[in-house]
Amino acid sequence: MDLIKELKEEHVEIMRYFEKIKILKSNEKIVEEISSLKELLIEHLKLEDRMLYPALKDCENNKAKEAGDKFSEEMNEVSKVVLKFFDKYQDKNIILTDYKKFINETEEIIKAVSKRVSAEETILFPLFEKYVK
Ligand SMILES: [Fe+2]
Repeated sequence: MDLIKELKEEHVEIMRYFEKIKILKSNEKIVEEISSLKELLIEHLKLEDRMLYPALKDCENNKAKEAGDKFSEEMNEVSKVVLKFFDKYQDKNIILTDYKKFINETEEIIKAVSKRVSAEETILFPLFEKYVK
């Protein structure tokens, strides 16, 4: 499949999962869903690390090259925060002890991830499509 198309589909899936965990409440499945989302996100990041950033790095266009480096570095920071969230909430008791806090933190993570997703789709992917493909 086309790389950009695949990455965009994964973005939709990732955001859908985040919305889902927000409405699961004390449902038995919440921890399971969080761990599926974590796996999905890790696979997505691996695909971007393997196929997206190196191709931009090797590209002839300086703007695309610089954007690749910048996005790759910024993603390391975003990942740290998101993975910390996943690790913290892999225990259902922690979610239920302070459910309001969990929802607030989920909202914060959703904001950060969706900001990242829209930056990729409006800046990075078009550069890839223009200069790499
Ligand atoms: Fe992405």
